[in-house]
Amino acid sequence: MADQLIIFDTTLRDGEQSPGASMTKDEKLRIARQLERLRVDVIEAGFAASSNGDFEAVQAIAHAIKDSTVCSLSRANDRDISRAAEALKGASRARIHTFIATSPLHMEKKLRMTPEQVLEQSRLSVRFARNLCGDIEFSPEDGYRSDVDFLCRVLETVIAEGATTINVPDTVGYAVPELYGEFIRTLRERVPNSDKAVWSVHCHNDLGMAVANSLAGVKIGGARQVECTINGLGERAGNCSLEEIVMAVKTRRDYFGLDVNIDTRHIVPASRMVSQTTGFVVQPNKAVVGANAFAHASGIHQDGVLKARDTYEIMRAEDVGWSANKIVLGKLSGRNAFKQRLQELGVQLDSEADVNSAFAKFKELADRKSEIFDEDILALVSDESVTH
Ligand code: KIV
Ligand code: ZN
Repeated sequence: MADQLIIFDTTLRDGEQSPGASMTKDEKLRIARQLERLRVDVIEAGFAASSNGDFEAVQAIAHAIKDSTVCSLSRANDRDISRAAEALKGASRARIHTFIATSPLHMEKKLRMTPEQVLEQSRLSVRFARNLCGDIEFSPEDGYRSDVDFLCRVLETVIAEGATTINVPDTVGYAVPELYGEFIRTLRERVPNSDKAVWSVHCHNDLGMAVANSLAGVKIGGARQVECTINGLGERAGNCSLEEIVMAVKTRRDYFGLDVNIDTRHIVPASRMVSQTTGFVVQPNKAVVGANAFAHASGIHQDGVLKARDTYEIMRAEDVGWSANKIVLGKLSGRNAFKQRLQELGVQLDSEADVNSAFAKFKELADRKSEIFDEDILALVSDESVTH
């Protein structure tokens, strides 16, 4: 049996950190229900200690969601961890995700702590959290820019204290795929008892490589959890996008050899819900969920797809929640695509000569108009001899 890749969605926490993407409790609850429909394994519902609003949102989601683990972020201190545990009370499955920065830059300039203090704080926090919850995730923030020897000591310590998931963030999106994958592999090889925890990747998209880095963390590094968001929403340039990582692993199962639990038919509705809720528009050429992701405009492509969809489609539009692929009729379209649209519109021209004449009119119109709609076609065939 293939290994399972755990999908950890952080749209409601890291996604909400996008400037301008804040959501109300009810909006978060609606999105959490959609994530449960998607069969996301873990939903990071928020950062309970950050505000009363976030506390209440995590609490509401913890009560409503039955099939996914519900998680709250917390800094590595007793107060934050207690707030997270309190908000998660009553959840079918709860996880506390605690983090502290481990890179020299963050420790010195932001935390103003020595490495030894950070190590001790990590130990005590995981020990404290473990007494409140059986499922503990630990993240060394800015992990990718941390000193590897020091990071190994921290991760060894938190695993010994009972952390069950080790997440290695590329907090500032600095990694490149091969190096990030090797970094994860090195940590897994060097940290004693590394097999007692699930290894996780958390990549930001500052250089546009969040998905590629995450995939390398899985393939080269052996990570078995990916942290991601719907539409790649997130701090600055965003996080690894859920729809892309899931469809990459599913479409290239031959290469990754992993299963994911996700019911992909709910991807597009989830994308629309997040876009409408946050007001963040999805670019038309965005992979999987963009309006053009399954649209064919060139005549050669349209002809190919009409003969056999695999010619230009590696995924099925309907498998990710679109109603169908889309043949966009325009000046590049061929006679075959035009004829097919006539059939779909219920228009039967009496002879091939009529089809040719309508097609010539269509081409003439398409030179003036970038996209031809069904109404345009119906108008231009109204002069031909038509049988309905
Ligand atoms: O990017 C990051 O480092 C984070 C951590 C809090 C996991 O979001
Ligand atoms: Zn992050």
